[in-house]
Amino acid sequence: MVKILFVCLGNICRSPMAEAIFKHLAYNEGLDSKLYIQSAGTAGYHIGDAPDYRTIQVCTENDIEIHHKGQKLQKEDFLEYDYIIGMDEDNIQDILDRRGTIAGKAEILKMRAFDTINKDGDVPDPYYGSLIQFNEVYVMLSRCAPALLNYIRNKSGV
Ligand code: 4NP
Repeated sequence: MVKILFVCLGNICRSPMAEAIFKHLAYNEGLDSKLYIQSAGTAGYHIGDAPDYRTIQVCTENDIEIHHKGQKLQKEDFLEYDYIIGMDEDNIQDILDRRGTIAGKAEILKMRAFDTINKDGDVPDPYYGSLIQFNEVYVMLSRCAPALLNYIRNKSGV
């Protein structure tokens, strides 16, 4: 089983959406039994919470099932997961800080590195925005997900 963890700040907007989109893609590719896909936040503000209603709305409108309860990134995650994927540069810095000197197996990646349009950007935090920003995040994540899946397939041989 290859284990993949999507990470943002609060784990209610971007990373649960990335988790849901990636699960949908894995299912369509017949890989759902080979990939374990989860998400977490660098902060613990929303532990146990459902995703933001706007993330649920955008996923539902696009026929993507979403079921998640907020959780915080743990030190053990660096030992358990093969890939930890941050949404923005702050997430990457926080992930690296939390890893510290743990010699975990997790490869730390940034989601936009897999974008087909602009590989340098962030997946911007939509929390203080409107449904427009949530839809933009959805489009961005959907664009990055197939290239990320290809990368994982080649690297992990699934
Ligand atoms: P996310 O968005 O990192 O995409 O889940 C946020 C959600 C909540 C907060 C910040 C960002 N917050 O400050 O509660």
